[in-house]
Amino acid sequence: MSASLVQSIALSALILSVFSNTANAEENAWSEKAIIQHTKQADFSGSLSKSKLEQLIAIGEGLFSAKFTSLDGAGRPMATHAIIPTKRKRLPSQTFNRIFGTDANSCASCHNEPKVGGAGNFTTNVFVSEGFTGQGGSSTDPQFSNERNTNHLMGAGLIELLAREMSADLHAARKQVLQEARKSKKTVRIELRTKGVSFGYLSALPDGLVDLSELQGIDTDLVIRPFSQKGVMTSLRQFTINALNQHHGMQSVERFGPRWTGEADFDEDKITGEITLGDLSALVAWQATLAPPTIKTPKDKDWQNAAQQGEKLFSNIGCSSCHIKALPLTSLDFADPGPFDAAGTLRTGENENSAIYNLALTDWAKRLPKNAKGEIMVPLFGDLKRHVIADAEVAALGNELLSQRFVERSVFMTSELWGIGSTAPYGHRGNMTTLNEVISAHGGEARKSRDSYVALSKTEQQNIIAYLKTMVIEK
Ligand code: HEC
Ligand code: HEC
Repeated sequence: MSASLVQSIALSALILSVFSNTANAEENAWSEKAIIQHTKQADFSGSLSKSKLEQLIAIGEGLFSAKFTSLDGAGRPMATHAIIPTKRKRLPSQTFNRIFGTDANSCASCHNEPKVGGAGNFTTNVFVSEGFTGQGGSSTDPQFSNERNTNHLMGAGLIELLAREMSADLHAARKQVLQEARKSKKTVRIELRTKGVSFGYLSALPDGLVDLSELQGIDTDLVIRPFSQKGVMTSLRQFTINALNQHHGMQSVERFGPRWTGEADFDEDKITGEITLGDLSALVAWQATLAPPTIKTPKDKDWQNAAQQGEKLFSNIGCSSCHIKALPLTSLDFADPGPFDAAGTLRTGENENSAIYNLALTDWAKRLPKNAKGEIMVPLFGDLKRHVIADAEVAALGNELLSQRFVERSVFMTSELWGIGSTAPYGHRGNMTTLNEVISAHGGEARKSRDSYVALSKTEQQNIIAYLKTMVIEK
């Protein structure tokens, strides 16, 4: 028998086994599949009870740590990492590729410090290159990708809810000012402010046009995109679809399936239905219900005192103008899919089986403080706004060469500092080993505050760090 014939018999045996695995719902206990049974969205539709939500979260937890295999559809022989489904021109020479993916076996292989769902060290960096039109490559040179360190996902559901409420406020303000301009037949200019954060100014003209030239730190569609350190991703659902494809070659039906691509097996790996709507919802539910980080009271008395001093300094020198201690949230109802996604990610109302769950069903929700109006105060230490964070003299954070989604290279979203005591290294590239380094690296809009920090005494600087080190992710 010729070698090629042996090979082709072996290959068809493999393909057969793949097909029989797909066809067979009953899997052996020693199955090499990570997803033994796909989740049906219809089983989790409507308003979820606590026990239904817990079931969905448990499935999501399993999927987040699952090491996907080729039998599940891991790998994407004929599709690139691109967010918009894109075919490769030819088969890649290797299956895994550290730069353009697929680059990992599970979500948890990067998000794992101090526990699953957390951040990652420098070895877990990702080479973000969604704007890069090439078909691949293997260079870490910044001209091909923006290298980013893994951030944590704790409290991510609260972050998404805050962003949704803020976007809704801004949309309402735009509508109102347009009406006023039409009525008064004059140009009306308003400050776009929601939850105490200003996003610049918007002017409405009597003829229904809007002047967007004075917006700050937000996209022109007035949708706050709280995810990715650049602040360009709208929802956990959208991010998860991107991550599944980029890192694992696991393609979700809602973007890569027949609805958008006209194909059931877009990456041509002979596996269809790799991630169903329900699988995705489970991954989202687990992330959305992760407990937010906390502030611990250190046992060490000196640390306690230093942190107390640091907290005051943090406000006095303007750190809290961007790293706002807490933002008020009206409702804990989490609808998945959400209202602000673009095509390629499901939106509210696009699927009759949408789920909605109340984050108050979680064990941690009770511990969040409320303000006088009864709003939940989300202690994120952020503003969900993008800022210029580098300048000519203080340039270390202006290290990227590619813009992403038309956001300037030196602009990043304010990092939420909750959990910062558990998530070294620092900075979007994870190339700063101490808090002192990353604070001293703030330029641009943060320059004044950073200069005040640099001018403090050594002890005062240490107090700020003592304070930041109390913001932890509980193990
Ligand atoms: C190879 C490492 C790696 C793997 C694997 C990985 N991530 Fe990430 N993740 C990152 C990095 C790096 C970022 C920051 C990206 C950025 O800022 O542009 C990130 C950011 C995120 C965010 C946004 C968090 C925020 O607050 O901005 C979400 C959500 C997320 N990942 C979910 C997932 C899911 C779900 C999976 C599995 C399907 C996954 N990740 C797999 C490295 C990884
Ligand atoms: C103008 C807004 C602004 C001000 C003021 C500001 N920051 Fe930041 N901060 C940011 C942004 C944006 C980032 C993300 C930087 C990056 O990595 O690209 C950041 C990042 C950080 C980080 C690193 C987070 C991480 O996960 O690696 C720390 C720590 C931090 N800031 C502390 C401070 C302290 C302390 C002060 C006061 C001296 C301060 N910041 C003032 C906007 C601000």
